[in-house]
Amino acid sequence: MADDQATFSQATLALGGKDTAFPVRQGSVGPEVIDIRKLYGQTGAFTYDPGFTSTAACESAITYIDGDAGILLHRGYPIDQLAEKSTFMEVAYLLLNGELPKQEELERFTHTITRHTMVHEQLATFLRGFRRDAHPMAVMCGIVGALSAFYHDSTDITDPQQRMIASHRLIAKMPTIAAMAYKYTVGQPFMYPQNSLSYTGNFLRMTFGVPAEPYEVNPVIERAMRRIFILHADHEQNASTSTVRLAGSSGANPFACIAAGIACLWGPAHGGANEAALNMLREIGRPERIPEYIARAKDKDDPFRLMGFGHRVYKNYDPRAKVMQATAAEVLKEMGVTDPVFDVARELEQIALHDEYFIEKKLYPNVDFYSGVVLSAIGFPTSMFTALFALARTVGWVAQWNEMISDPEQKIGRPRQLYTGHTQRDYVPVGER
Ligand code: CMC
Repeated sequence: MADDQATFSQATLALGGKDTAFPVRQGSVGPEVIDIRKLYGQTGAFTYDPGFTSTAACESAITYIDGDAGILLHRGYPIDQLAEKSTFMEVAYLLLNGELPKQEELERFTHTITRHTMVHEQLATFLRGFRRDAHPMAVMCGIVGALSAFYHDSTDITDPQQRMIASHRLIAKMPTIAAMAYKYTVGQPFMYPQNSLSYTGNFLRMTFGVPAEPYEVNPVIERAMRRIFILHADHEQNASTSTVRLAGSSGANPFACIAAGIACLWGPAHGGANEAALNMLREIGRPERIPEYIARAKDKDDPFRLMGFGHRVYKNYDPRAKVMQATAAEVLKEMGVTDPVFDVARELEQIALHDEYFIEKKLYPNVDFYSGVVLSAIGFPTSMFTALFALARTVGWVAQWNEMISDPEQKIGRPRQLYTGHTQRDYVPVGER
């Protein structure tokens, strides 16, 4: 990588009558990046970029997105190929280690993950402290943060061995924790993992199975779940991944960092959009009501937005949404479900794609537009949608966290600000104000 990333030119900034040159770096693909690390030292100025729309906060070799072309690559491999041909364990290995595993490597990795699927028995007692109606994301934030108390022997981030054990533990235990969060809300007993099943098959059984009878994994649903997990596995420096990196930059332990990522993911502008999108589609209810919602989405005075539409990076069709749409059709057919919500979604997509407002702003369906339809057909309540996203994204989070910790240029994340408050003034005693 080093050759590809060589500094090859300079950008000159004219400020206060002085020209200062900054190196321009080129990644293996993608836009040029002006290295402004010395900007403050050399000019005394900061840059202003709320929302990091033009700021590369790190160097990374994991995931690449070309938002204009609608391309998503993990370690160079296109997402549609991985979703179609690969398994979640293989993608997890790829994200973590950089290469697709050979047969023996895959078996060893799968065996390792499988051996970490159980959680400390005391964790079940901890979980039972939540209200029965607690949102699964609230439970996930709490439980994953608490893992650092249960697995303290893998929190020394200076030890690569402990980092890897913590990463394996997180990937392996997330399905168990997400399924427990679900079981608790429906009042059914927690199901122990069944290690002879696939990662997704095991998760389906822990969620929908009961101890009183055997659970048969439906291969169509298992395949759909696998695709959903792969589609959500990583997405470069999105808000929750950047949160994980920022939390990790202070040296915080990996369980605490992933809990921070889960908290960020919960928001409706990010992972919470899948829940919000399905709620919106249900609210629309019938194709005749679509124009009313399109009009609201376009109205500047109405805060309503089409959930599952638009993306900070994609200014083209999100490649994940394409796979998700096909998966939705497959699952509905298998389950024999004729969900009017799917018809509303397809019709809404068509109307929006031909509407001047959406065309001009380059707003296309994103991964969350169809995922709710699929997850609902499988049997998940809407409150579980974002928890499933968190489960799958854990792989990306730990891969990015490991990459950051191993980066010799890594520093504590500490943005600057454009201060617009009062300048210095003297304290006035309360009776004189
Ligand atoms: N419906 C209607 N108008 C929209 C929408 C939408 N879904 N998304 C963006 N716009 C408009 C927005 O009003 C703005 O218009 P103007 O330039 O006239 O002010 C313009 O498009 C640009 O929007 P922005 O908010 O400046 O863009 P952003 O890059 O900051 O936001 C986004 C990206 C994903 C937060 C936003 O598109 C959105 O809120 N979408 C709905 C929520 C959603 O589906 N989120 C899931 C994202 S994909 C999964 C994930 O990453 O977690």
